[in-house]
Amino acid sequence: MSETSGPWGRIEAHAAQVRKRRIAGLFATPNRAREFSASFGDLLFDYSKTNIDTEGRWLLLELAERAGVAKWRDAMFSGRKINESEGRAVLHTALRNLDGGPVTVDGADVMPEVLDTLRRMEGFADDVRDGVFEGQGGPITDVVNIGIGGSDLGPAMAVQALAPYHDGPRVHFVSNVDGAHVTDVLRRLDPQTTLVIVASKTFTTVETMTNAATARAWMGEAVDEPGEQFAALSSAQDETARFGIDPSRVFGFADWVGGRYSMWGPIGLSLMIAIGPGAFRAFLRGGQAMDRHFRAAEFKDNLPVLLALVGIWHRQVLGCPTRAVIPYEQRLARLPAYLQQLEMESNGKRVRRDGHPVDRPTGPIVWGEPGTNGQHAFFQLLHQGTDVIPVEFLVGARGHEDDLAHQHRLLVANCLAQSEALMTGRSHKEAQSIAEAQGLTGEAAARAAAARTFPGNRPSTTLVYPLLTPEMLGQIIALYEHRVFVEGVILGINSFDQWGVELGKDLAKDLLPIVEGRQDAQPADGSTALLAAHIRRVR
Ligand code: F6P
Repeated sequence: MSETSGPWGRIEAHAAQVRKRRIAGLFATPNRAREFSASFGDLLFDYSKTNIDTEGRWLLLELAERAGVAKWRDAMFSGRKINESEGRAVLHTALRNLDGGPVTVDGADVMPEVLDTLRRMEGFADDVRDGVFEGQGGPITDVVNIGIGGSDLGPAMAVQALAPYHDGPRVHFVSNVDGAHVTDVLRRLDPQTTLVIVASKTFTTVETMTNAATARAWMGEAVDEPGEQFAALSSAQDETARFGIDPSRVFGFADWVGGRYSMWGPIGLSLMIAIGPGAFRAFLRGGQAMDRHFRAAEFKDNLPVLLALVGIWHRQVLGCPTRAVIPYEQRLARLPAYLQQLEMESNGKRVRRDGHPVDRPTGPIVWGEPGTNGQHAFFQLLHQGTDVIPVEFLVGARGHEDDLAHQHRLLVANCLAQSEALMTGRSHKEAQSIAEAQGLTGEAAARAAAARTFPGNRPSTTLVYPLLTPEMLGQIIALYEHRVFVEGVILGINSFDQWGVELGKDLAKDLLPIVEGRQDAQPADGSTALLAAHIRRVR
């Protein structure tokens, strides 16, 4: 049962009073845009095109204060074991703590080992990039990162995002256990000049280990010692040794780095090889700068807190079940997928830390595609569909293609136009005039006007960054990480475990012998039995 008093009750009562008003009307207040936007350096977060007003923001800030966001934040940075269900600290921030101030877990400073691993990664990345580390056929031309979930999405997203900074070997990603994925990637490569990186925190994930075995067999056909062209990124050094990877090419990390928060450390090796250690450090510096902002800024000016509060307003207070993330930056095409794991694996929970059910909706469904492509696909529904879907736009003030600056201006104009159109819509009266101007009358004009009316009043936020550099990407990713954390604290859930992925994994193990036809035992339910039998018969 929802509380009717207290901070939740107050924000819900406020929402009930204001939910029907027009967002556009809020701009009658002078300085609305300036007052409902916040910046960190040249990063600007505009949330003025939402229905949050001064009182709403105050009540949302109260929610954050009362949930103990500051206390939990400090506990996280100090190395306390806030991931209680797994008995672990949460310290991905230590991976970007480049100044190396001490960070302690169980009384021991973890920074010497973090920095030592970073230097080892840099040494290896330089060797690969400079041709000091070679394959049997000469310098490495291609790197294949085999991993899944947090061991794939972060580096895959960032390698694509930072394409203008690539000056190393080509980097490819294999994640799906579908043999088509590994086949399509390896088919184009020369095994004698390829380095395979097996990225798996546990080194037991079935998809990754299956693809790693396939890649080793592929390499074994052309290379005398295939294991010598393998590296591993893992916390399970016994497993990497069993796989046959020399410890000099194994880069480990501690259990306090969660999978979906791991791209800042060894899991980022493929990115480091692509852009070089210097640019990778810039990426870390960006993340570290956002950490400092998150720790120091007052909540009313604190970007991660504000993003979280806007998220809470739309999902928990107004009840919008989904959130669209639309980067107007083609190179951020994988950002929505990355954020899906970050947000939905972190906050897609139904019980609180204390084991009791959460009494309101938790994480939203996160989805999206880059603009302008999305405009020609699903924006119809955003503008005129029956659901209100808050949209989070991201756009760079400039692109890397100076010779195509006119295209970038077109991109930016589209981004701004969409957020404006979502908010203002088009009235029936205006639509009627358009229809009449086209010569329509009577019934025909009325029908045309109805179809051309946009309800508007659909909220959006816009994050503007100057240029997508490694440092800026680091800031943006750390911003989203902390946003997810703040939302989790406000909901009272543990954002750092992921028990919800276990059941399907267990059942897949049981079903494999049945799908393979090795075992006659029937699946527990009739539908699964029918599907398995049909697949066996028609394949
Ligand atoms: O999907 C569950 C999960 O545990 C993710 O949290 C993680 O990122 C992914 O699997 C991969 O795990 P690993 O790095 O251990 O292979």
